Amino acid sequence: MKTSTAIYPGSFDPVTNGHLDLIERGAKMFDRLIVAVLHNAEKQPLFTVPERLEMLREVTRAWPSVEIDVFEGLLVDYAQKRQASVILRGIRAISDYEYELQMALMNRKLQPKLETVFMMPAETYSYLSARLVREIAMFNGPLQGLVPPLIEARLRAKNAKK
Ligand code: PNS
Repeated sequence: MKTSTAIYPGSFDPVTNGHLDLIERGAKMFDRLIVAVLHNAEKQPLFTVPERLEMLREVTRAWPSVEIDVFEGLLVDYAQKRQASVILRGIRAISDYEYELQMALMNRKLQPKLETVFMMPAETYSYLSARLVREIAMFNGPLQGLVPPLIEARLRAKNAKK
């Protein structure tokens, strides 16, 4: 039996409602969806990798076919290790396109059998990004509708500690 496994890679610092919209769509489309958090030693994230994994696990509980994992190094190598045939990425607006096209084509060059599939989140989330969420949280602005309540609580707690 053929089962399709897709990887949805990203920083997820933190996971937003836009990411969740895409996860929901991806879970409907693929037999198994692996949401893979990049462990990037060069970046200074707001949340540690274990924190991001834990938050993702909490907010994706409703989807049994969704797995949360972490990866390091090249995405194509990780995809091969997990026997995934598809990379799932979201495109919100035309401004995402150039960066995403470059990544998709480079990944194709590195591993021609791996296909990148783009999905569009609901238009409500077309202007939403984790970077803006972090910024709004830093200045104690309203986050309703942008992230799940649990993530809002984690953001508030993180900023209270600073
Ligand atoms: O959420 P992001 O930060 O836009 O996700 C970027 C991500 C993790 C998809 C990208 O940086 C990535 O795949 N990094 C792994 C290293 C790699 O494979 N680089 C070559 C990609 S062309």
